[in-house]
Amino acid sequence: MNSGTTQDTGAPQGRRSFLGWFLGATVTALFTSIAYPVARFLGTPSQPEVAASQVQVGLTDDPDFAAKGFKIVRFGSEPVIVIKLSDTDIRAFSAVCTHLACIVGYRKKKHDIYCNCHGGTYDLQGRNIAGPPPRPLTPYKVNIVAKAGQPGTIFISKA
Ligand code: FES
Repeated sequence: MNSGTTQDTGAPQGRRSFLGWFLGATVTALFTSIAYPVARFLGTPSQPEVAASQVQVGLTDDPDFAAKGFKIVRFGSEPVIVIKLSDTDIRAFSAVCTHLACIVGYRKKKHDIYCNCHGGTYDLQGRNIAGPPPRPLTPYKVNIVAKAGQPGTIFISKA
């Protein structure tokens, strides 16, 4: 009778220790899945604010302009849409939609700036003209430095 009892308690202890380990691992994973995003949110940003007063975008003959008419660059942590209408007419705005912060794009054929998320539309002055965006896009100043016979170099700075 006693030996039967000893054998019966051996298996449940193995199961209990496995369940204890499994429960511990689950609680650790749950805690990590909650604590990591909170720590990332509270921590310092991985991309520091830009210290420079201007950012070099590239050349006026950049292939992105030929293909799409625009390119997205970073000004510190801020994405900026740079739109080339001609060699001397280049415009830049914050690429963050003023509705819910999706990234906007330039529609070459429609000649407007468009947000795919909810159909927000801006004109080429950055003014919100259709859809839910409540405010215009923040403009950036564009400076083109050109040497004779060479494509210009585009710089953007805060307007
Ligand atoms: S986030 Fe751009 S229209 Fe909603």
